[in-house]
Amino acid sequence: MNILILGSGGREHAFALKTIQSPHCTNLYVAPGNAGTASIATNLPIGYNDFEAITQAILTHQIDLVLVGPEEPLVNGLVDLLQQHPQLPHIKVVGPTRAGAQLEGSKDFSKQFMQKYHIPTAASQTFTRQNLEEGLAYIETHALPIVLKADGLAAGKGVIIAETRTEAQATLRAMLEDQKFGEAGSKVVIEQFLRGIELSVFVLSDGTHYKILPEAKDYKRIGEKDTGLNTGGMGAVSPVVFADRNFLHKVEEKVVKPTLAGLQAEGIAYVGFIFVGLMNVKGEPYVIEYNARMGDPETEVVLPRIQSDFVELMLAATEQKLDQTELVVSSQTAVATVVVSGGYPEDYEKGKKIENLEKIDDVAVFHAGTAHDQAGNVLTSGGRVLVMTALANSLEGAVSRSQKAASTVSFEGKYYRKDIGLDLIRYND
Ligand code: AMP
Ligand code: GLY
Repeated sequence: MNILILGSGGREHAFALKTIQSPHCTNLYVAPGNAGTASIATNLPIGYNDFEAITQAILTHQIDLVLVGPEEPLVNGLVDLLQQHPQLPHIKVVGPTRAGAQLEGSKDFSKQFMQKYHIPTAASQTFTRQNLEEGLAYIETHALPIVLKADGLAAGKGVIIAETRTEAQATLRAMLEDQKFGEAGSKVVIEQFLRGIELSVFVLSDGTHYKILPEAKDYKRIGEKDTGLNTGGMGAVSPVVFADRNFLHKVEEKVVKPTLAGLQAEGIAYVGFIFVGLMNVKGEPYVIEYNARMGDPETEVVLPRIQSDFVELMLAATEQKLDQTELVVSSQTAVATVVVSGGYPEDYEKGKKIENLEKIDDVAVFHAGTAHDQAGNVLTSGGRVLVMTALANSLEGAVSRSQKAASTVSFEGKYYRKDIGLDLIRYND
């Protein structure tokens, strides 16, 4: 099969590596990809939101299967377009249609969905400009802190946790009156703050059956001990020690099964990944959010633990045969440390030469924001630059190898967190 992966991050490099390891893969293309994907596949200089160019590339390269990495093309209806295209009657796509992608594309939709299908989540109400006054009054009696969420996609910046009612009211006004998040903030979900430990569970769905993939914990803040600004993710660990068998069983029964049953009841044939962001509140799972895709850097710890043929899993998902497929997961621990450009997640410089990559041989180096220059050097081209994933029999072993790789690679302004996984080692003790 000829396969096309859309996206350009560490997630897509991890997808690409698993894909080329399958005997089912003849040619692999990544659009637009990065320097890492260029070394194992053919990069196509196409943006993942350029639907016309994507369709053309699928025809030109006789693509059989498309895997959509990021959420934007899903929410914008790429999958619907491909499935309805008269020249692509046999195209297989891993990724939900626009209707399914609403789980991520609209917080209001996902909250209503969870309420309708009795999926545990924080109590909430949605407000618009029309009932702003009611929203301000709702805040008056709401327990602190108060969580406010822009309804639409906001590149991970749409959630504000207000410590005071004055701040919550000002935020609500800024979103609804001043359009702080543009169209994405034209509806605002106000919800209860959940206290607990966060983790994510990943599901591959074929519309009828599902497989639960390894769970992961990510480290969202830029600073050690979870301080400073939110980022796309500074590290990840899988498995998660506090997600024991009992807890994961509750997740399957109380969250995964009703989510898939709900999608079916809504007439949504969901083919693709569902990323369930959860809070473990005293042993009970609550859904914080759904994403209609895999996470980044979570994919870089989840995929290395999957021993089954990844292309077979994707094929089974597109053919409604996941019940006939086996998912084999390694019991080893994967730890990913993300190496970023100095200044990220705010302004940072690009084009720095990356050195010492060749000195790393005992971890998987997934490229995120990298590009080749004319001379073949690898340069930084984004905020998150490289992801160092170590797989080991112990959490300690994986942490130490991942960290060593992060310290070995070098470029001007390099930064990484030195505490990835340490909280979980302490949790074990
Ligand atoms: P989201 O974009 O929905 O993942 O939210 C970003 C982050 O805000 C989450 O990863 C949580 O750390 C936090 N968060 C979101 N909703 C809640 C909530 N109801 N209670 C506590 N923390 C939350
Ligand atoms: N690491 C969080 C995400 O991919 O949304």
